[in-house]
Amino acid sequence: MLRVEPNAATLGATIHGLDLRQPMTDAEFRAVLRALGQYAVLRLPNQHLHPRDVAAFSRRFGRVQTSVSGKYHHAEAPEVGILSNIVQDGVNIGIPDAGQDWHTDMSYTATRGFINVLHAVQVPMRDGQPLGNTLFADMRAAYDALPDEWKRRIEGLTATHDFNVFWQNMVNRPGSTRPPLTPAERAKRPPATHPLVLRHPISGDRVLYCNPGYAERINGVSDAESTAMLDFLFQHQLQPRFHHAHHWQVGDLLLWDHLSTLHNAIADYTAAEPRLMHRCQVMADQVFSPEFQHQWLDAA
Ligand code: SIN
Repeated sequence: MLRVEPNAATLGATIHGLDLRQPMTDAEFRAVLRALGQYAVLRLPNQHLHPRDVAAFSRRFGRVQTSVSGKYHHAEAPEVGILSNIVQDGVNIGIPDAGQDWHTDMSYTATRGFINVLHAVQVPMRDGQPLGNTLFADMRAAYDALPDEWKRRIEGLTATHDFNVFWQNMVNRPGSTRPPLTPAERAKRPPATHPLVLRHPISGDRVLYCNPGYAERINGVSDAESTAMLDFLFQHQLQPRFHHAHHWQVGDLLLWDHLSTLHNAIADYTAAEPRLMHRCQVMADQVFSPEFQHQWLDAA
């Protein structure tokens, strides 16, 4: 029997009673969607899954995105990306530095990202404590806490998001092994424009849709005003009062809502402390559509 156990904070809940080796029933899928709309970050513990199970679960929510480089995919489940610091025969088996700063995945695509699904296969431990936490920031709470004058100011404005902003920041880090994007890779990910204030497709809540990883320009204002506004919004949205930390355990399946959160993968482990995650990134190609709303949300 599916049971949702909320965290103490508004962000985050644990879902008990699902074994994702089996497909979810329609009623279970509705319950998961409802919980996602309410808590944004959902943990399903003790899931011992083949990457194909992770892909099948993810596909229920929308189209699964593949990586820009086309590398680091699971051989038996190509929709599943591999995130890892493990090196075998001198070669990284996965992306070693994915998501290591505040961002929202796929805010840089015309169709926004909807959810991320991460399955923990190996979690680094030190002195009995897990390392490599993932931090989240709640963008519903961040919107609600904006001064009224700012809510009025950003209503109706859009921001441009560019994949290259985050990529280049990672390239510039000391010790990075990422090469700069080639012109062909950049052409595959042209910048995209989205409203700064979004109505959430499940909860109907207003959220601040902006993130320091990818947002590079607020449109319709001068360069100086755009920079000043982004500085304010980034500082505002990253305040610790909006944060939630996920402490990983092997077998955790974590899904989180990109539309209402930012996240940051904390790289506090060494090369000798292996971390291995299987990931599917799901696009918001269906969740906003009237058909999806009618089939899964109206009756929920
Ligand atoms: C990501 O940004 O998708 C990776 C998060 C993590 O590895 O904790």
